[in-house]
Amino acid sequence: MKSLSKKNSAIAASITLAITAKAKALKAEGVDVISFGAGEPDFNTPKNIRDAAIERINAGGNGYTAASGLVALKEAICEKLKKDNNLEYKEENIVVSNGAKHSLNNVLLALCNPGDEVIIPGPYWVSYYELVKLADATPVVVMTDASADFKVTVSDLEAALNERTKAIILNSPNNPTGTVYTAEELKVLADFIVAKDLYVISDEIYEKLLYEGEHVSIASFSEAIKERTIVVNGLSKAYAMTGWRIGYTASTTAIAKIMSNVQSHATSNPNTIAQYAGIEALQGSQETIETMRLAFDERRNYMVDKIDSLPNVSCVTPKGAFYVMLDVSAYYGKEIDGIRITDSLSFAEALLEVEKVAVIPGIAFGADQYVRLSYATSLALIQGGLDRIETFLSKL
Ligand SMILES: Cc1ncc(COP(=O)(O)O)c(C=O)c1O
Repeated sequence: MKSLSKKNSAIAASITLAITAKAKALKAEGVDVISFGAGEPDFNTPKNIRDAAIERINAGGNGYTAASGLVALKEAICEKLKKDNNLEYKEENIVVSNGAKHSLNNVLLALCNPGDEVIIPGPYWVSYYELVKLADATPVVVMTDASADFKVTVSDLEAALNERTKAIILNSPNNPTGTVYTAEELKVLADFIVAKDLYVISDEIYEKLLYEGEHVSIASFSEAIKERTIVVNGLSKAYAMTGWRIGYTASTTAIAKIMSNVQSHATSNPNTIAQYAGIEALQGSQETIETMRLAFDERRNYMVDKIDSLPNVSCVTPKGAFYVMLDVSAYYGKEIDGIRITDSLSFAEALLEVEKVAVIPGIAFGADQYVRLSYATSLALIQGGLDRIETFLSKL
């Protein structure tokens, strides 16, 4: 038989899959597993958004829309970008896709040629790396450090730069670290990006889940940086709409056109009903965002305080999103119930095996010192889960 696609065979399976699949299997057997793995809000989609979708179904909203999305939704997105981010865009700058992940895929396909390099500051969201490879480009990870609040600097970028560098992926607030860049820091990065004639893919999906500081879009500093920025955002995290699959980009017309053409052949429009619901999400009451944000903030504070009381582990207080990176590397080399802990994966496996707590190994984000804990789960489960982690550490 002829061989299969070399490029796509090289796309890695999700490292997190093994742990989450095992946690699910244990749960199905009736084992009391507490999971810190969630990458989505544990809230229902707000009622006004659900109602808008039901209304549209009953009104016969069953047809295709333009491949790049409904005009009315693009207009709502432009209004949002103006109001929240002080960014002027027109309908032709917006492409609505099947979630921000799909948007990112489109962006990379629009920007990259074989041999191009894309800089990804680490710890990074796991899909960036593989999406860059899918676009025939090369991911170049620039690792940041907890002591620098996991922030990439111009000198870090300078060291990774060469004539093949096409773009930088910036994610603030960040998954998995919760890092939020200040306006001053973003301005310095923006000046560098303009000076070096690069593109910046600015993933702002966690914009609304911010506990300290304010969200600033890197595109907002000048026309020069705006035309080099592709803003990526979506409804998944802000409106508890992960399953509805609506993400979007704002970019130059030229980039939007390529993405729109690619999407028109690959998927056509994102789900029509979800697009109508998206208009309500953006234009209806924004109250539930604050309710969720306050709940996440309470859980964040509990989690960080508890971690601070645990021996030989540490974390940087997250300022946004809903994740904490827990440095567990002081325990590497220890053994429990015959399991030797040597890295983030074996730590996560042992924790699940012994205390029935699921966490995501940091190696999935390029950072093997850490495990990632999500606080998109109830305070009671967070308390129970952290107590179990305390017990686990005391046995090591
Ligand atoms: C940093 C980041 N970007 C993008 C996404 C994709 O979001 P969605 O495709 O659900 O809109 C996620 C989801 O976990 C994320 O964490």
